[in-house]
Amino acid sequence: MTINEYNFAGKKAIVRVDFNVPLNENGEITDDTRIRGALPTLKKIIADGGAAIIMSHMGKPKGKVNPKLSLGQIREAVEKALGCPVGFAPDCAKAQDAANALKMGEALLLENLRYYPEEEGKPVGIDKEDPAYEEAKKAMKQSQKEFAKTLASYADCYVMDAFGTAHRKHASTAVIADYFDANNKMLGLLMEKEVTAVDNVLSNIKRPFVAIMGGSKVSSKIGIIENLLGKVDKLILCGGMTYTFAKAHGGEIGDSIVELDKLDVALDVEKKAKENGVELILGVDSVCCTGYDFGTFSVKPGAEVKVFPSNAIEAGWDGLDAGPESRKKFADAIKGAKTILWNGPAGCFECDEFTAGSRAVGEAIAEATAEGAFSLIGGGDSVACCTKFGLTDKVSYISTGGGALLEAIEGKVLPGVAAIKG
Ligand code: 3PG
Repeated sequence: MTINEYNFAGKKAIVRVDFNVPLNENGEITDDTRIRGALPTLKKIIADGGAAIIMSHMGKPKGKVNPKLSLGQIREAVEKALGCPVGFAPDCAKAQDAANALKMGEALLLENLRYYPEEEGKPVGIDKEDPAYEEAKKAMKQSQKEFAKTLASYADCYVMDAFGTAHRKHASTAVIADYFDANNKMLGLLMEKEVTAVDNVLSNIKRPFVAIMGGSKVSSKIGIIENLLGKVDKLILCGGMTYTFAKAHGGEIGDSIVELDKLDVALDVEKKAKENGVELILGVDSVCCTGYDFGTFSVKPGAEVKVFPSNAIEAGWDGLDAGPESRKKFADAIKGAKTILWNGPAGCFECDEFTAGSRAVGEAIAEATAEGAFSLIGGGDSVACCTKFGLTDKVSYISTGGGALLEAIEGKVLPGVAAIKG
C-alpha cells in the first residue's frame, strides 16, 4: 500500500515522524528541515478528510520525562506549518481520550515517545554483564509490544515517515506495524523520497564519486567509511577525525580531540584505501585555538586563534577547523565530481571563527552540482551548514537522516522500511 493510493477520509492515521529538531536555549526551533519534510504526508491525510496523530521522539531522554525535550515546545510551529488545529497529548501512552476526541481535518501531537523506555525497548538500570540482564531484556521486549499496541489502538492506519529514525527498531518505527494489516500500513512520502535519493546514488553512480565525511570521531563513522572505500573514488576525511589520523603517524596534535584507542583503525583505513585504489584526502593544516567554549560555541575572552600544520600543533592549542591549505585540497578534490555524499562538518562551524572549512566543502559541492553532479547531503550538522551558508538550493538533495542515511548508503535494510515492506 502506498500513501497515494490510500484514501484517509474519515480515518485516523498514526504517523511516525522525526521531529527531533534542534532547539535553542529558549526552546525555539533553529532548523525546521525535518518538520517541512513531514508536511506532504501530513497534509495529504488532512486534505483527504482524515485526522493525523503525530508521534516522534526528541533527543535522548533515556526513558524518563525531561521537560527540555518536550514536543509541546514545537506544537505551535507544527500547527502553523500544517495549517490546521494541532492538539497536544502530554502523555503518549495515555492519549486514548484525546485520540477519541480528535476531529477529522485536525491533528494531535503526542509527547516524546522516548519518555518511555519501551519505545527503544532496552532494559534500563541494569548492566549488560548482570546475570539478570537477559530476563530483563525479555520482559522489556514484551512491554515494548504492549506499548506499541497502545499507540496502534489510537488509529485506523499507520504511516511510517520518520526517515531519520528508520534505522531504529523501536516501538513506533517498527513494532507498531504488527498491529495493522497490510492494507492499513504504509511508508510516507518523505520516506519514499529519501529512499529514492539513496537509490539514485547507489544504483547509478556517476564517476568520480567523492564522499566527504566529517565530525569528531572515527569510531562513529568507521562502518560507513569502510563501506565507502568499496564505492568511492575519493574520500575526504575532515573534522575532529583529522587528529586521530595525525596522531597515528606520530604527529603532535596539541589538545585536539583524538581517539587514542583508534589509531590502528586509522592506519587500517589508509591501508584499505590504497588497496581499493581510493584517494584518501586528509587535512594538512588546522585553525587552532587556545580556549574554545563548546557550550556556547565561542572563543573564550583572551584566547588566541592560529593556523598550525595538523601534525605539529603545540600543546595548549586545539584544532577546530580545516586550515587554508586543507580547504584548497578539499575543494580541488570535489571539483569535477559527478556524485557527491557529504556527512559531517569540517570544523566547529557553529562559531564564525571556524566555519571556513565547512564553507569551503559546501561551496565546492554547490559548484560541482552546478556542473551536473548529483550531491546528497545528510546529517544535522552538514544540513545546518548548508542553511548557514545559503547553499540549500544549490545541492541536489538534503536528507533528513543522519545515521539512517549512512546505514541506507551502506546498503542495510532499515527496520522502519522492513516493518512495512516485510
Ligand atoms: C537523528 O537525529 O539522527 C534521529 O532523530 C535519530 O536519533 P537517534 O540517533 O537518537 O536515534
